[in-house]
Amino acid sequence: MCGIVGYIGARNATPIILGGLKKLEYRGYDSAGVAVIHGNQIEVRREAGKLSQLVDLIGKSPIDGAPGIGHTRWATHGAPSAKNAHPHLGNSGKMVVVHNGIVENFLELKAELDGEGITFNSDTDTETIVHLAECQRAGGTSFEEAARRTFKRIHGANVVVLISTDEPDKIIAARIGNAGGVVIGLGEGENFIASDIPAILEHTRRVIFLESRQMAVVTKDSVELTTLDGQKITPEIHSIAYDAVSAEKGEYRHFMQKEIHEQVRALTDTVAGRVDFQEGRIRLPELKLTSELAKRIQRIYITACGTAAYAGMVGKYLIEKIARIPVEVVIASEFRYSDPIVDENTVVMAISQSGETADTLAAMEEGRKKGAIIWSIVNAIGSQAMRVSDGTISMQTGPEIGVASTKAFTAPLVDQYMLAILLADLRGTLDEKTRKELVADLRLIPDVAGRTLDTESQVEKIAYELKDISGCLYLGRGINMPIAYEGALKLKEISYVHAEGYPAGEMKHGPIALIDEEMPVICLALQDPWHEKMISQIQQAKARGGTVIAVATEGDQLVADMADHVLWIPKIPWMLSPIISVFPLQMLAYHIAAIRGLDVDQPRNLAKSVTVE
Ligand code: M6R
Repeated sequence: MCGIVGYIGARNATPIILGGLKKLEYRGYDSAGVAVIHGNQIEVRREAGKLSQLVDLIGKSPIDGAPGIGHTRWATHGAPSAKNAHPHLGNSGKMVVVHNGIVENFLELKAELDGEGITFNSDTDTETIVHLAECQRAGGTSFEEAARRTFKRIHGANVVVLISTDEPDKIIAARIGNAGGVVIGLGEGENFIASDIPAILEHTRRVIFLESRQMAVVTKDSVELTTLDGQKITPEIHSIAYDAVSAEKGEYRHFMQKEIHEQVRALTDTVAGRVDFQEGRIRLPELKLTSELAKRIQRIYITACGTAAYAGMVGKYLIEKIARIPVEVVIASEFRYSDPIVDENTVVMAISQSGETADTLAAMEEGRKKGAIIWSIVNAIGSQAMRVSDGTISMQTGPEIGVASTKAFTAPLVDQYMLAILLADLRGTLDEKTRKELVADLRLIPDVAGRTLDTESQVEKIAYELKDISGCLYLGRGINMPIAYEGALKLKEISYVHAEGYPAGEMKHGPIALIDEEMPVICLALQDPWHEKMISQIQQAKARGGTVIAVATEGDQLVADMADHVLWIPKIPWMLSPIISVFPLQMLAYHIAAIRGLDVDQPRNLAKSVTVE
């Protein structure tokens, strides 16, 4: 969702904020703005569109000063326009706010402020915050106390950052509920605030994370942390070892393309240090899984959104097959409304690239309330999902910038494969031979992954043939069924082509009516236990005039004879096949979108971190 950056210190805040926003642009990109204190005035620049448009505006009409706050927006209330872009000024012109989240009681607060004669200048819910804070200041209340009172009146999951000309030596930030993260970066005689680490990494690696219902008063030399109720908190300072360089595009046209290719390294790193190939054993120390705990587990809920949920669907197959523990995958936005049957022998495991998806965090909270063991598979270091878990498996992918998730999809597949083996091992349900074979198979991944990525030019040729399609069906069965969902999601989110992922066996119950000469059908027909069934699916699609593009195992003549095009992957044990079979679909979606000239890394209407419900 929205990205926030703040700076306080002796330097001009504007370039620091713009530099930080650039690193956060993936979060939201429909408008942007900066406000700085100059003398005893607040100067604001806001612009609709991408950050580059704000940079142009500031180029023509510069502002400098400090402290300052900036924002990239992903609209929730009010159209993406300069008027609705943050920061928003109060009526006195002395206080200004940036915000991420949704003020759920916005209408009620607005009615109250309307009653007091406050003028609203935007259609946003955000504006209520600054007006409310200004009203709290009446009668000489300090900036800090006015901010605190305001934060306590806001409902929902929100991050708020305020500055004021009355007390220009402070930035006040609050995290109310499980909105996106807030990280405070500690410098020498200067401090930083941001939604995410990459925004401040070039300035400092010493950071403090704000927890839910905490606020920070940040000056150039100090950070004071309290709860919203005013209780003092001793900040925990973390040192971030994070590879900023990998957040650059390098030789690739888009981050998505780079991240697709980074999967070989990411998957190698995922396995590295966690596998004893000699003994045939898995080590996941961050998960803190003991054999007593492993034996106690009676059910696992995997909860996640979008691509991460599809990763969880593959995980269900793996854990049920290898560890024989029942697994249910519940979309995170539904979890807490489905009254899940959870007790102390249940694991609720979240999968999240960002670790700050509001729905996923809410599902984890629900699990916690009901007494479950909370696990997570997370990419973003220090994120909320990681911090609230009893045990975690950190993805070893490095930052993922492209909005369409790729490497953060395949890494958790390997994580769940390893988790399944570890669970089975600790429960004593896996014989040594099978365990060693399953572990040994992990060695195959880097080579098979690399060889599959080498087929990119062939995938690109097929993308040229498909560039004008207006719809596409993706079919799969068994462990590759979620890959059909994921392939379809990749195509729709970056190409804006309607695509449908479907369990192949369900075709005859309705969707087969869609197939004609205009409808390409992508069939995951790998040499897995569902191979024969997929062959008959290809025949059925061909019989209705559909163009079939198969994802198949190298050397499969049967598929080659039937399909119009084949995207080949090397032979790999079927339980690992989804990790690789998704590569051609990622590359296909990428190339169709790139050929169409679309904004692959920042597709319309989307954001990398979805921190609102
Ligand atoms: O950060 P998360 O992994 O929790 O995000 C979940 C989804 O929002 C995300 O996977 C989304 O579906 C991607 N845009 C898919 O490419």
